Amino acid sequence: MRSRLSRCFWLLLLCYCFLSRRAAAAPRLPVRAVNLGGWLVTEGWILPSLFDGIPNKDLLDGTQLQFKSVTQDGFVAAEKGGGAGLVANRSHASGWETFKLWRINETTFNLKVFGNQFVGVQSDGSVVATATSPGKSETFRLVRNAGQNRMRIMAANGLFLQATGSGLNMRPQC
Ligand SMILES: *[C@@H]1O[C@H](CO)[C@@H](O)[C@H](O)[C@H]1NC(C)=O
Ligand SMILES: *[C@@H]1O[C@H](CO)[C@@H](O)[C@H](O)[C@H]1NC(C)=O
Repeated sequence: MRSRLSRCFWLLLLCYCFLSRRAAAAPRLPVRAVNLGGWLVTEGWILPSLFDGIPNKDLLDGTQLQFKSVTQDGFVAAEKGGGAGLVANRSHASGWETFKLWRINETTFNLKVFGNQFVGVQSDGSVVATATSPGKSETFRLVRNAGQNRMRIMAANGLFLQATGSGLNMRPQC
């Protein structure tokens, strides 16, 4: 009886650690629900092994990402934390440089910024974080460079985001 209890305890602790790592920014642990790629698990505790077999499992819903421009050596930021354009000229990454994933499927995502707006491409080609809800122009594909820890962000029009211009504004380019 006693050993069963302690085994239970360790199991819970294991799950707790895993979930708290994933939910680092969320207040008040323990977490009793996780979002598995749009599939909400609300009952009981789930084991890390349940994530096995999910494509791109390090890009699950709610994952927070920071992007550094390889050419500019600057972190991508939502100016003012949201409500304005995206730039790639920050030397340090913190809240404004952190993007939270809304996972549509294994390759397609919405990117939510610090101020809760969504990143989108406007008709003039500028990349801004102004939308309060995501539509087609707020939908991006994250394309990995195989073997390297690199990613490109493809807009709905099929162009990849790049940092250009004096302020290193983000724009979709060929
Ligand atoms: C993901 O969703 C996008 C947009 O709905 C779609 O175009 C794409 O084919 C989907 N990809 C996969 C792998 O399901
Ligand atoms: C980054 O570029 C924006 C847009 O031009 C500018 O307003 C901001 O001051 C720049 N920030 C830094 C840290 O250079």
